[in-house]
Amino acid sequence: MKKPALVLVGAGGHAKVLADIIRLDGRYDLVGAVDPAAPRTAIPGCRVLGGDELLPRLFRRGIRHAAVGVGSIKDTAPRLSLATRLRRLGFKLPALVHPGAVISDQARLGEGSQVMAGAIVNPGAVVGRDCVVNTAAVIEHDCVLGEGVFIGPGALLSGGVIVDDGAFIGIGAVLLQGKHVGRRALVAAGAVVTRDIPAGKTAVGVPARIPRRARPA
Ligand SMILES: CC(C)(COP(=O)(O)OP(=O)(O)OC[C@H]1O[C@@H](n2cnc3c(N)ncnc32)[C@H](O)[C@@H]1OP(=O)(O)O)[C@@H](O)C(=O)NCCC(=O)NCCS
Repeated sequence: MKKPALVLVGAGGHAKVLADIIRLDGRYDLVGAVDPAAPRTAIPGCRVLGGDELLPRLFRRGIRHAAVGVGSIKDTAPRLSLATRLRRLGFKLPALVHPGAVISDQARLGEGSQVMAGAIVNPGAVVGRDCVVNTAAVIEHDCVLGEGVFIGPGALLSGGVIVDDGAFIGIGAVLLQGKHVGRRALVAAGAVVTRDIPAGKTAVGVPARIPRRARPA
């Protein structure tokens, strides 16, 4: 049976990892990537077709699936607005999971979410729509991630942690059990979260503290 065609939106580092996942997963035919800035050969085995203006034409040609190929280094908003734009154009955003990730059958994964190699999502965890659970991150039992949450590589979320929409958890961060990270908050790389982090705030260090100057919105 013919596989459904999928276009990758973005052709940088995050997209390169996703292209690998799509190939290993085998359910979709990756027709190429769109990225106004990238050279045609940016991703091995995946041609860059041109800029984002091609998307409506690709949809009309019958390509119905897309993946947000843009990562995040602190701000999750660009990923979310791209997901919204793709859905408005009519694309479906399937969840993409590396075959080397472990996701409990008692966990839930929202559409458009992406789970990289070596990540673990344990029973009772809920991962909302359009999240990224990056390489080797651990989402312990009963954690709840909202929409568009970005979990950096190797971050460790203990049981029952709640992370609200659009929050960013940096590489190697550790969140103690039951802590709450508010909407669009940022947990810095390597931080250890021992207290709840309010919405929109940046938490840095061990134990994590909120520096006096707030993160610009
Ligand atoms: C917290 C963070 C967003 C700050 O970025 P920024 O606003 O550009 O800040 P700067 O790099 O200018 O650093 C500002 C200060 O904070 C310190 N700092 C930055 N990141 C820090 C961190 N993770 N832990 C402790 N201190 C940190 C810097 O040393 C600097 O201190 P100084 O003023 O005494 O020199 C960023 O460093 C970070 O942790 N990003 C997450 C990266 C990540 O997880 N990437 C994975 C992508 S897949």
